Amino acid sequence: MTSASLPLAGKHVVLGVSGGIAAYKSVELLRRLMDLGADVTPVLTRSALEFVGAPTFRALSGRDPLVDLFRADEPIPHTKLGQGADLVLVAPATANLLAKFAAGIADDALTTTLVATAAPVVLAAAMHTEMWLHPSVVANVKTIRARGFRVIDPERGRLAGGDVGYGRLAEPDVVIGAVLEELGGAGSTLRGRYVLVTAGGTREPIDPVRYIGNRSSGKQGIAVAQEAARMGATGALVTTVAAPAIPGFELVQVESALEMRDAVMSRLDRLDALVMCAAVADFRPAEVADQKIKRDGGAPEIKLVANPDILAEATAVLRRSKPEAVVVGFAAETIDALRHGEEKLARKRVDMMVVNDVTEEGAGFGTDTNSVWLIARDGSRSRIELAAKREVAAALLDKAFALDREPHA
Ligand code: PMT
Repeated sequence: MTSASLPLAGKHVVLGVSGGIAAYKSVELLRRLMDLGADVTPVLTRSALEFVGAPTFRALSGRDPLVDLFRADEPIPHTKLGQGADLVLVAPATANLLAKFAAGIADDALTTTLVATAAPVVLAAAMHTEMWLHPSVVANVKTIRARGFRVIDPERGRLAGGDVGYGRLAEPDVVIGAVLEELGGAGSTLRGRYVLVTAGGTREPIDPVRYIGNRSSGKQGIAVAQEAARMGATGALVTTVAAPAIPGFELVQVESALEMRDAVMSRLDRLDALVMCAAVADFRPAEVADQKIKRDGGAPEIKLVANPDILAEATAVLRRSKPEAVVVGFAAETIDALRHGEEKLARKRVDMMVVNDVTEEGAGFGTDTNSVWLIARDGSRSRIELAAKREVAAALLDKAFALDREPHA
């Protein structure tokens, strides 16, 4: 992607940081915004400086973070910033910041910029559970939303002081997804959907240098995540191969089937769709040698044990906890593709199987093109003739999200 074609190229984003423990996460948000092509000006409150340092923001953004309202070189920086911004993102937005914005109080560089801008405003709230639930905070959030500004709810998780509950800053992909939506950097068909995609072949270690692997390049899985992002989804790409940054998507690098299982299972509660494109090894060495196995000892006998079936496990959980989630599996076949695909569709209880006869010319492992059958639980079958993997990805996402998903028996 050239920088001009990045989704936020030419956009000026003001990144406001108020003083909470989650302030350190704004550094990751700054990096992601810049990766998407945005020009970012950080504006920090004095309290934010208790948690993060201005030099970090200066080094990453290439701009002096604005902290003080009155600067010798620029008499009215807040109005300039507010007028020039395409969007103001505040992350984290503390209870104090939300209260001031709701009341229109402008007593520092950030709150003054907020009141001086006509650009869309996104506030990602983060605070302790008791504060988030306090009637005054609830009323302030209601007021802010009623005025058309977007407040991203905090998520449940570990909070400062070891407490667990609602209050944690939303994951970066959720915050970035909201920015993309506000700035029209993404399509809208999958807007608001969280899609988890897996890509690549797992590597099952034999010793510190060797592994059992397969021919999957990850191209098809990466294409699915890219198309989902283009359609407006946020989500995660769990991958065994290097992948480019995808707007709104968290990249989770894994190697083995066990690591991939953990990455998938720990995200089930937030997903709307799971697309298992990865070629997961069915077996792994029962034991992994601590040191490189030496040739002198003769050819080793490697005992294999079965890996978990991630797709079947995830689907079993989702059918109970989230029956509305869309689950798509892939079937890589070398003979009787449709028959084996049908069998896997039923056994793994997925909504749709993408049946990939990897013996077909231009299809399957490592190619830039693919040709597949889409077979669905409702009995429908459609063929996608040889096309770029991005096109195959778009077609399968269209079909998967259009399926009428009666609850599973
Ligand atoms: O990566 P590329 O080079 O672009 O190639 C693309 C592809 C050929 C890898 C892809 O299109 C494909 O077919 N992926 C599925 C590969 C596979 O593992 O198929 P399978 O029939 O063995 O598995 C069926 C389904 O169960 C798959 O969704 C797989 O992710 C899942 N599975 C399999 C085994 C296992 N232990 N756990 C699983 O979740």
